[in-house]
Amino acid sequence: MRSQKDWLSYDVEEMVSQDKDNLWHHLKSHSCFENLEQMIVVGADGLVIKDIRGNEYLDATSGGVWSVMVGYGRESIARAVYEQMKEMPYFAGAYGTVPAIKFATKLLEHLPRMDKIYFSNSGSEANEKAFKMVRLAANIDPSRKGKYKILYRDRDYHGTTVATMSAGGQPERRNGFGPFVEGFSEVPHCLCYRCPFDKTYPECNIDCARAIEDVIIREGAESVGGFVVEPVTAGGGIIMPVKEYFPIVQDICKKYGVWIIMDEVVCGFGRTGKFWGHEHFDVDPDIITMAKGLASSYEALSATAVKQEIYDIFLNDLSKPEEQTNFFRDISTYGGCTAPMAAALESTRIIEDEDLVENSRKMGSILLEKLQTLTSLPVVGEVRGVGLFCGLELVQEKQSKTPVTESQMAELMGNIMAEKVIVGRTNSSLPGLNTTLYFVPCLTVSVEEIDIIVGAVETAIKKTFKECQVVA
Ligand SMILES: Cc1ncc(COP(=O)(O)O)c(C=O)c1O
Repeated sequence: MRSQKDWLSYDVEEMVSQDKDNLWHHLKSHSCFENLEQMIVVGADGLVIKDIRGNEYLDATSGGVWSVMVGYGRESIARAVYEQMKEMPYFAGAYGTVPAIKFATKLLEHLPRMDKIYFSNSGSEANEKAFKMVRLAANIDPSRKGKYKILYRDRDYHGTTVATMSAGGQPERRNGFGPFVEGFSEVPHCLCYRCPFDKTYPECNIDCARAIEDVIIREGAESVGGFVVEPVTAGGGIIMPVKEYFPIVQDICKKYGVWIIMDEVVCGFGRTGKFWGHEHFDVDPDIITMAKGLASSYEALSATAVKQEIYDIFLNDLSKPEEQTNFFRDISTYGGCTAPMAAALESTRIIEDEDLVENSRKMGSILLEKLQTLTSLPVVGEVRGVGLFCGLELVQEKQSKTPVTESQMAELMGNIMAEKVIVGRTNSSLPGLNTTLYFVPCLTVSVEEIDIIVGAVETAIKKTFKECQVVA
């Protein structure tokens, strides 16, 4: 009989060859594995991950996609999941379970202006639920009749499904997957460094925000119901809007009855040095979506939070036959799994008890300051960010802001890895502009770890770009 531990043991060469033969990796062209071995991650503790060959790396990406908020190796999360699974592993979300009730209640403590929580499994799904709410409301609420269209922003990302890709502002993610869903329209991004209007802040009149009104009018205000937006753009290049941006957006959306769907999938749970990314701004979203950091990715969980007014739209009167199906007819099988809620409750407890949002703020400003010293290098165009969410954009030449090439980026990433540090980058997203490095470590990061990360990147930049090399 096989022991329970068998699934934890492996043969290194067998894993390497079975990885090549059987596994289809996310977001990678497998042509590169003709001559290259894919890294296989086998262990982790704190911010350090270990690969199957025994190499250790300092992970400045919180698990590759910015989601392991509390760091690796948290036994208390594993224990919470184990205890919950023994007690009651699953029942469909049409019913209540204790961890779902407790975690919804915990989330609402952190969202005083929200009233109901709807659980699902991924950021894409949480956004899809929001889109479905906009669309169903447009059909059943007389005051929102026909308001089914949803605006999204250039460079923002909201997920990988066909509908969320239809709301995606990153052309390389969309290429070849069309035709897309009808009813989604793009508005400009708000990155000052590459202003879509070629203007300079603050004389620009914040045209990037005002342009939203033009799009609403062009589409027909009677048909626009939602605007989905990241508080700080993540995969599109770490873009923090100026302080005037969201209040202007809010006024426009209010004027035309457009719900603001705040996509907190990346920014939530302390990433930006506040519990929610949108807390940096004077804005009051109608719907908030979240995933990634919810359970620190120890388990898969996402949620869509709404205000009471939105929830009430779907309270149908069962005595009226014409209203029989006017409730939110949506389900997510794994939205009923209880282990993710247990993991999320424990991860959130850790964030609260260890004051990790404050650590994100404090360490984030140290990280930003240290990265800013790299702007003295000729290829560092801009460093930007907030909290533990920083980006460094590389250019061939500062004046023209001509981006570095894909092959230079690939070489640089290899050179950073050689320093035993993993950072992220804009990846297959923005044509010609996949040139921003990401620094998004777990919220537990220390000053010493920040020094290692920044030092490794400085060394790798100098090695990659000859114009940065110090001539003796
Ligand atoms: C801002 C944002 N929204 C939504 C998503 C989609 O989340 P998921 O990959 O869990 O579907 C992502 C993923 O990176 C994201 O960055």
